[in-house]
Amino acid sequence: MLPIWTLLLAASAASGATLWAPTTPQSVQPYSLKKGHGLKLAGGNTFPVTGNSSGKAFCILNTNAGGFPGAGAGGGFPHVHRKTYENFYAVKGRVQLWGQNYDTYKANTSIQQTRILGPGDLGAIPYNTIHTFSLLEPDTQLTGVLVPGGFEEFFFQMSFAGGPTGGFDNTALAKFDVYPQPDFSPRHDVVNGRAGGPGNWYDGPNPLPNNMSAPIWVAKNYGPRWLNRQQAGRYQIVAPFVTGQQTNGTFSQGTITLSPYAGGEGVAKAPVVRNGVATAFMMEEGQLEVKVEGFDAVSLIDGDVVFVPAGTPFAYAATAEFTKFMYVTGGGKGLDAELIAGGERWTSAFYPDAKSSSVALGRMFRI
Ligand SMILES: *[C@@H]1O[C@H](CO)[C@@H](O)[C@H](O)[C@H]1NC(C)=O
Ligand SMILES: *[C@@H]1O[C@H](CO)[C@@H](O)[C@H](O)[C@H]1NC(C)=O
Ligand SMILES: *[C@@H]1O[C@H](CO)[C@@H](O)[C@H](O)[C@H]1NC(C)=O
Ligand SMILES: *[C@@H]1O[C@H](CO)[C@@H](O)[C@H](O)[C@H]1NC(C)=O
Repeated sequence: MLPIWTLLLAASAASGATLWAPTTPQSVQPYSLKKGHGLKLAGGNTFPVTGNSSGKAFCILNTNAGGFPGAGAGGGFPHVHRKTYENFYAVKGRVQLWGQNYDTYKANTSIQQTRILGPGDLGAIPYNTIHTFSLLEPDTQLTGVLVPGGFEEFFFQMSFAGGPTGGFDNTALAKFDVYPQPDFSPRHDVVNGRAGGPGNWYDGPNPLPNNMSAPIWVAKNYGPRWLNRQQAGRYQIVAPFVTGQQTNGTFSQGTITLSPYAGGEGVAKAPVVRNGVATAFMMEEGQLEVKVEGFDAVSLIDGDVVFVPAGTPFAYAATAEFTKFMYVTGGGKGLDAELIAGGERWTSAFYPDAKSSSVALGRMFRI
């Protein structure tokens, strides 16, 4: 008879295959990347997920660069995409984003909107929305999510050609789903981080619209939230920025805030997730163990990225309190949709019954 420890060892057996990749793979496979690692492009751009690595599901583009207040709309000429949905997420510093639906702009029946996005704030630019942006702080990280993946070929082509004023064939822009709008004049009358458009910003709840007729703004912790406690011993707060309802069923993006197991167990206790759509996580806070079938478990900290192809089983567990990550899932019916379906509406930024005193204080002062 085998001693008990060999059985325990077997349960947590290492497969020997590492999930860590040196850079973004050129084909679809599970992988994880350390913060800042991945396919690079001049100007502080890193692509941890591309059309090639995700099977065209989505592209994630991190821009780490400097800017300054009042910089104007320097993040590119105002333009429209007809087939590409583009989300702007501020991770560090501040980003100003402008947007207006193309048809209602032409008909003069809508109002141009702009927001100053601080860390954790999101601006969604649906198809057919004129937009431009600007980085406003010396150390800013803008995380772009572009759907479908493959749009990034434009950035690489443009950079090889020296930019839109440096030899790039502007007549080729339509081929890349880029339609310049030189007459669009970004407004500069921001008060309290916003100008134009209905709804709240940091002054009340930011519900998600059920259509794509205007930019969608979600301030950190002011969007809708669900608490999932389906598995005893842990909590997950899902805060979607967009679900399939806001993206015509093409993708979802949001954040998950996860408690460690009450008993301190790690990923071995976590239920296996198997989605018909691709999934990516980018870490924001805490520490997350991720085990993808066929690979050794990895431990992720802030800025690290993990990508799991459609259909590949994986599991995840927090090993620190308030472990938080941004997710992107393809098709609008991924992990987030399951957690929301099994969850309850939630208004707090905190999960219940947390062990740390800072959590208890946060709950005491909750309004
Ligand atoms: C994607 O793959 C194609 C075909 O191999 C290649 O030409 C292209 O450069 C790749 N794109 C990126 C962004 O790596
Ligand atoms: C657009 O509509 C506004 C009022 O809604 C009006 O003041 C403005 O003159 C219109 N602009 C054009 C170019 O028609
Ligand atoms: C889109 O949704 C917003 C917010 O839910 C609503 O105010 C607006 O009327 C809708 N627009 C259309 C064209 O349905
Ligand atoms: C939404 O999806 C449907 C079916 O996939 C497609 O026919 C339609 O063109 C899409 N709408 C937009 C605005 O992309």
